[in-house]
Amino acid sequence: PSETGRVLSIQSHTVQGYVGNKSAVFPLQLLGYDVDPINSVQFSNHTGYPSFKGQVLDGKQLWDLIEGLAGNDLLYYTHLLTGYIGSVSFLNTVLQVVERLRSINPGLIYVCDPVMGDEGKLYVPPELVSVYREKVVPVASMLTPNQFEAEQLTGLKITSERDGLEACNILHAAGPKKVVITSLHLNGTLLLIGSHQKEKDHPPEQFKIAIPKIPTYFTGTGDLTTALLLGWSNKYPDNLEIASELAVSSLQALLQRTVSDYLKAGFDPQTSSLEIRLIQSQDDIKNPQIKYKAEKF
Ligand code: ATP
Ligand code: PLP
Ligand code: MG
Ligand code: NA
Ligand code: MG
Repeated sequence: PSETGRVLSIQSHTVQGYVGNKSAVFPLQLLGYDVDPINSVQFSNHTGYPSFKGQVLDGKQLWDLIEGLAGNDLLYYTHLLTGYIGSVSFLNTVLQVVERLRSINPGLIYVCDPVMGDEGKLYVPPELVSVYREKVVPVASMLTPNQFEAEQLTGLKITSERDGLEACNILHAAGPKKVVITSLHLNGTLLLIGSHQKEKDHPPEQFKIAIPKIPTYFTGTGDLTTALLLGWSNKYPDNLEIASELAVSSLQALLQRTVSDYLKAGFDPQTSSLEIRLIQSQDDIKNPQIKYKAEKF
């Protein structure tokens, strides 16, 4: 498989460290994609540090960039990728971007990571939830919520694999053909659940991948997961299972390298703020060894 494309990626930028575009652009480039980043914020570092400084792009400034590209006929994209979005006005402008890009390429694939919160807590303004649910989900081609985000989008409380699959069904009915719940924490285990509805009104193909939990808190891994899922699912458009196995396998190799490099440098990975070892893991991104297998439901 060698399908590539041109990706417009609207995400955060940090000067130091790897979240948002900093964790998505390089891997997509390694997988052969042209990637055009729009930085929705430019911060010194990610918000998990004790402090940060920087600037936030507003909806009008996003639209200016789109108009600038349009003025030179530069709005042909195969993919749009979005991650953390901090305000309703910016999210509404993203919706206008989807419409504009689809008027130029009706086949545009919109990969949406509906970043709203984690572990029971919202970290975006609560007004964003209904905009995602009512306006964004219906136009997304692939959605990559975590457990909490899937609950917010469906109104379902997810406490079992069955609930996870049901949430995917509800999301398919609202729009996206591909749904990946990127992390589900169920009685001590970490799971990814994937669901591909190949034809409208047909039952989706569904699977899970069990992931061994590393006792460390990473940042940037959600953004990297979605980027890898975009990259691989475009190369295997009819096989979300293989795409997910490749994405998970790359990520786990990178996380193991991250932990072992921090240990070697004398840091305690359970208490330090870890930055993922993205650049050092480029072989694992280009040529992942599949070590984590999908199990069909
Ligand atoms: P979003 O960015 O949409 O909120 P998310 O909450 O799923 O997504 P993460 O919690 O970073 O993002 O998880 C994404 C992936 O990163 C998981 O599928 C898993 O493979 C990997 N991952 C993250 N943390 C760990 C960990 N401590 N141990 C093992 N894998 C992890
Ligand atoms: N974007 C910014 C600016 C952040 O500060 C963070 C986390 O602190 C993220 C994104 C989150 O990335 P992820 O969900 O991939 O861990
Ligand atoms: Mg998470
Ligand atoms: Na996610
Ligand atoms: Mg996240």
